[in-house]
Amino acid sequence: MTSSLIDLAYLVAAALFIIGMKRLQSPATARRGNQLAAGGMLLAVVATLFLHPILTPVEMIAGLVIGGGIGLVLARRVEMTAMPELVAAFNGFGGLASALVAGAEVARYLPGPDGVTTAAVQAAPPDPLTAATAVTVVLSILIGAVTFSGSFVAFGKLKGVLSGNPVLFPGMRLLTLLLALGALGAMGVFVAGTPDFPAEVDPVVIGGLVLFGLALILGVLLVIPIGGADMPVVVALLNSYSGLAAAATGFVLDNTALIVSGALVGASGLILTNIMCEAMNRSLLNVLLGGFGGDAAAGAAGPAASAEGKTVNATTAEDAAILLSYAQKVIIVPGYGMAVAQAQHAVRELADLLAEKGVTVKYAIHPVAGRMPGHMNVLLAEANVPYDQLYEMDEINGEFDTTDVSLVIGANDVVNPAARHDTSSPIYGMPILNVDRSKTVIILKRSMRPGYSGVENELFFAPNTRMLFGDAKESITRLIAEVKAL
Ligand code: TAP
Repeated sequence: MTSSLIDLAYLVAAALFIIGMKRLQSPATARRGNQLAAGGMLLAVVATLFLHPILTPVEMIAGLVIGGGIGLVLARRVEMTAMPELVAAFNGFGGLASALVAGAEVARYLPGPDGVTTAAVQAAPPDPLTAATAVTVVLSILIGAVTFSGSFVAFGKLKGVLSGNPVLFPGMRLLTLLLALGALGAMGVFVAGTPDFPAEVDPVVIGGLVLFGLALILGVLLVIPIGGADMPVVVALLNSYSGLAAAATGFVLDNTALIVSGALVGASGLILTNIMCEAMNRSLLNVLLGGFGGDAAAGAAGPAASAEGKTVNATTAEDAAILLSYAQKVIIVPGYGMAVAQAQHAVRELADLLAEKGVTVKYAIHPVAGRMPGHMNVLLAEANVPYDQLYEMDEINGEFDTTDVSLVIGANDVVNPAARHDTSSPIYGMPILNVDRSKTVIILKRSMRPGYSGVENELFFAPNTRMLFGDAKESITRLIAEVKAL
């Protein structure tokens, strides 16, 4: 009876995960989707603790309060721009937990330090370790440990504790290959040792520990050659790994909820990685082989800089405000610079002012604008921009021809027309927002420096472009004052 109830709870939890994820597709339903999926996880945890009553009710509540409290503080305190590093830390701990739980499943067969097996094991000896279980244990240890160390290298790069530049040294790829072969060997020793286990503990214990150690080093070696700016893609991939590690541990423990949730995280992490790579027009292999996107992009620092004699039309807040106020249609294109300047509230205020003057205002969202998936959506939602004003790239790209002013706020690569025609450009082939086709383009940024890709943007030199130099928030605040004064 209890077991059917628990199966039912797991089924409901799995349904909640899937419905929750479906709702994450739209900003309007995302909040509810998150709550549903979190509710599903709570249900799965409570059902598991009823199946395996290893904790007293007081311990369960204490765990909920402490874990929930830490989550609440982190969720409230973390800056939006620091979200990828928080996710990296979560993935790392998830991977470590999977590896440790799988290892503990083996460790419980071992005698204690006094050479005696625990009373619980003596009373109810566990089933012999099968080869199938052994394979899932080693997979869990391998993927979990790689995820743990890899995620913390990604965390360090994102936080700036480690250099964001790709770290490569001679013989690195060979060393990685040798370590991978060593890990495979340790997995073989572990699995081959299971028929004689626990009578003969050495092959399993030594194989497991060596595998754990090698996998930790592999995780570091796989992530250090990748540039800091590519870390969000790596974090999405490691998220997928942490799901796979959890699913493998689910097989070790024969726990349906863990298998289902792990498989969902594994698949969705991989889909997200793929979406990010496609939107940057880079293959996953190209990202993983590293060497692209370091700490800071070089470039001309001053507003007045111009390349190869090309001229830049700088404008003032006063002139830009006139163009905006007398336009019929304005499309706002936010990018990473809006996040840095935290200009989203001011942007909304400006958009509202223009709408009051009868201007049609829309927002164009590029899938990889900013530094993490959904970065712009989250910032604009925080500023209460109505969802129906947000348009994805494919929906809005046909509208730029009929747009009077495109207001580009701290976006650069995602509006660079070179991506359409310059086959020699590193961003060639990346889908972009066609802002250059609007009547006038106003670009808000601080200098002529390039964006993440390090590529100069030919849009800055176009005859219909006006550059409004300065911090995006300060420029928008000046624009608001000028529009009000008109
Ligand atoms: P970027 O091309 O990186 O350009 C951002 C621009 O913002 C910079 O040129 C910078 O110019 C400006 N900026 C920075 N701080 C500013 C401030 N306080 N005020 C005003 N402007 C400021 O950004 P994007 O167009 O959003 O493109 C995103 C890039 O990141 C793409 O290349 C994409 O492939 C990559 N990427 C995205 C993701 C995801 S998932 N979103 C993940 C990894 C990589 P100044 O320094 O002159 O001000």
